[in-house]
Amino acid sequence: MQKLVVLISGTGSNLRALLEASEDAEFPARVVAIGADREADGLVLGEEFGIPTFTVPYTAYPDRDAWGDALIEQVRQWEPDLVILSGLMRLVPAGVVDAFSPYLINTHPAYLPEFPGAHGVRDALAAGVDQTGASLIVVDNSVDGGPIIAQERVPVLPGDTESTLHDRIKPVERRLLIQAVLDIANSHIDLKELTAS
Ligand code: GRF
Repeated sequence: MQKLVVLISGTGSNLRALLEASEDAEFPARVVAIGADREADGLVLGEEFGIPTFTVPYTAYPDRDAWGDALIEQVRQWEPDLVILSGLMRLVPAGVVDAFSPYLINTHPAYLPEFPGAHGVRDALAAGVDQTGASLIVVDNSVDGGPIIAQERVPVLPGDTESTLHDRIKPVERRLLIQAVLDIANSHIDLKELTAS
């Protein structure tokens, strides 16, 4: 059984999908802890699903590295096989990448390398493209530039707003994430190999 630590900043809808998938006895992974960089709404899922939570408030530390060190300490206590950034709206410092990569993955609401960064959905709309997508990547020291584990296109529809488009991308992100967790657990995806190539 693979142990997952999931880090969030927001509502945690991707996290909920993982927690629901883990309720199936055959699913080969379990969320062992949920962490956040702020009082994220999604932390309530911990109570709902009986999973421990922790918060490492970004603003409580003098700089990104100090915050990263505190995050590493918290995450390590759970001895995870995989750390999932699922809407963690912070760039993690190099120390965090060194500590967990390649077993550190991130969901992103665009078809990388298109539209990296914090506003992937907004930027796709602003660019006027007729399709964007969802991606799952290994986190490295770039901004959303790590090796791609899985990705899928999502059309941009006439009249789409940031929120309607994001709402159509998120279910795709969830599907990619759950499938990838399954494939990693079953050794159909080898993150070490993916990162080396
Ligand atoms: C997802 O689209 C994720 O890729 C992005 O933020 C969103 C998080 O949504 N970085 P949620 O908190 O899982 O609902």
